[in-house]
Amino acid sequence: MTDRVVHADAVIIGGGVAGLSAALSLAGDVVLVSKAKFGTGGSTPSAQGGIAVALADGDSPELHARDTLAVGAGINDHAAVDVLTNEGPARVRQLIMQGAQFDRDAAGRLQFGREAGHGRDRILHANGDATGAEIMRAMSAAVSQRDNVAVHDSTYAVDLLLDRGRVAGLVAIGPGGETIHYATSAVVLATGGIGRLYSHTTNSLEVTGDGLAMAARAGARLIDLEFVQFHPTALVSELDPMPLITEALRGAGAILVDQQGHRYMAAIHPDAELAPRDVVARANWELLEAGGAAYLDATQAVGDAFPERFPTVLAAARRAGLDPRTQPLPVSPAAHYFMGGVDVDGFGRTSISGLWAIGEVSATGAHGANRLASNSLLEGLVFGARAATSVGCSLLPPPALVAVPTVELVSAPSVIAELRSVMWQQVGLIRDAVGLASAVVRLEDLGRQLGDGSGEAANMALAARLVALAARDRTESRGAHYRSDHPEMKDATRRAYSQPTLVTVA
Ligand code: FAD
Ligand code: SIN
Repeated sequence: MTDRVVHADAVIIGGGVAGLSAALSLAGDVVLVSKAKFGTGGSTPSAQGGIAVALADGDSPELHARDTLAVGAGINDHAAVDVLTNEGPARVRQLIMQGAQFDRDAAGRLQFGREAGHGRDRILHANGDATGAEIMRAMSAAVSQRDNVAVHDSTYAVDLLLDRGRVAGLVAIGPGGETIHYATSAVVLATGGIGRLYSHTTNSLEVTGDGLAMAARAGARLIDLEFVQFHPTALVSELDPMPLITEALRGAGAILVDQQGHRYMAAIHPDAELAPRDVVARANWELLEAGGAAYLDATQAVGDAFPERFPTVLAAARRAGLDPRTQPLPVSPAAHYFMGGVDVDGFGRTSISGLWAIGEVSATGAHGANRLASNSLLEGLVFGARAATSVGCSLLPPPALVAVPTVELVSAPSVIAELRSVMWQQVGLIRDAVGLASAVVRLEDLGRQLGDGSGEAANMALAARLVALAARDRTESRGAHYRSDHPEMKDATRRAYSQPTLVTVA
C-alpha cells in the first residue's frame, strides 16, 4: 500500500561524496534520498587522511596512475584508472570553487600529505585530518542551492521497482514510516560500502550494504565481491565504529611497535609502515592473533602538533582516555572499504537499463584488489559527475506506474551480531577453504532466520553471503583477499556474478 507517489527524472540514493557529485551535475527534476540526515551519515564525513590528486608540482596523472596500479595487485581496470587520475585534478579544482577549503601553507599554497603506496606527497587534506567533513560541508551546501534537487532525508530506500527488466522506480519508507513510491526511469545508487558486515569496522551505522543488496535482488551484475579492504590502524576501544587512526600519521613518520616497543614493519616490507595497506593490516592481525599487541607511536613524529595536524585522532584518543602526544595508541585492523560492488562502465552504467551506481557501492575497477589510500573520495567525485552526464544523455521516457510490494522491515540485533562476528573471524583478513565453507553455511542459516522481510538486516545477510561465496571461490591470494591455503597469486581474472544464481559470468 503506497502512501505517496513522487515523480522524478532521476532519483539518487545516497548523500555522500558520490551522490552529491551526481546531484551537482544533473539537470531535470532530481530527488536525493538519504536514510541519514542530509549532510551527515555514511563514510564521507568521517574521511580523515584526504583526497589524492595529481596537483602538486612535479606530480602528474601518470605518476598517480602508476601508484594506483602498483597497489591494485594486477586487476585494476586501466581505463578506469586513467579516468580517475586524469579527470581528478579538474574535479578537485571545481570542488575548491564550490567552497571546499583544503589546508594551505603560510604562502597560500595547497599542502600535500603522504600515505602508504604513494610515491610522492599527493594528498589534499582539510582541518588537518577532517577532510571528509569539509568536503561534505561544501558539497551539501552547494546542493542546497540547487532548485532542481529535492532532498528527502531520513528516508530509507528499500528496493528498486522494475518493469520488463528496466528501472521503473523505487520504494522507500519516509521519515514518518509512510511508504513512498518514487516513479522514475533513472536511479543512481550511491549508498556506500559494506563495512557494517564486520564486527570490527571504521564504518558508520548506515554502511550496511543496502545498495549492493538492492542491485543483487534486481539481478544486476556484481563484481570483485571478495575484495574487502581492512585498515591496519583503528583504535582499540569499546567504540563501534572503531575510530580510525589515519594513515597520514604514518605518512608523517609515526611508527608501529609491538608490546615490547619493537618496530616490526621494517622487517616485513621495504616500505615499512608505508607498505601497501593489506600488508600492514595482515601484519597487525597476525600480531594480535598471536596474543601480542600493536601500537601506533606518533609521540616523536607528531607530538605537540596533534591539536593542529590531527585533531580528529586526538579527540578520538581522548574519548578512549588516551593521549597520543605522549602515549602510543593501541591499534587493530578493521573493515574499512569495499573494492567490489555493482559492476559499472566508465559512466556508472550497470547491467540494468536505468540503473547507475557510483562511489563505494560501485566497482569501477579503478582500485583493483586493493585501493590506494585516499583514492575513494576522488572516485566518488569523478564518477559521480560522469554518471550524471550519462543519465542526462539517456533521455528516458517516464515509467509506467508499477505495483509496489508490501514492505516489512525486519530488525534482528542478535542475528546481526552473530553475522558480523562470523564475517570478522572467517571472511576477514586471512581466509581459508574450511572457514569460508563454514561461514557460507552459517550465513545462509542466519539469512533464513530473517525470513522474507526487507531492510538493513536482510540486506546485510544477503551482502555477507555474496562476499563469503566470492571469497570461497577465489582460490588464490591477491591484494586484500588473502587465502592462507592458497597464498600464491595465479589468476588475474575479475570475477562477476549475477543473482540469484550466483554463477560466474565473466
Ligand atoms: P557514503 O559516503 O558512505 O554515503 C552513503 C550514503 O548512502 C549515505 O548518505 C547514506 O545515508 C545513504 N544510504 C545508504 N543506504 C541507504 C538506503 N537504503 N536508503 C537511503 N539512503 C541510503 N577515502 C578517501 O579517499 N580518503 C580518506 O581520507 C578516507 N578516510 C576514511 C575514513 C573513514 C573512517 C572511513 C570509514 C572511510 C574513509 N575513506 C576515505 C573512504 C571514503 O570515505 C568512502 O569510500 C567514501 O566516502 C564513500 O562515499 P559514497 O558517497 O560512496 O558513500
Ligand atoms: C586514512 O586516513 O587512513 C584513510 C584514508 C583512506 O581510507 O583512503
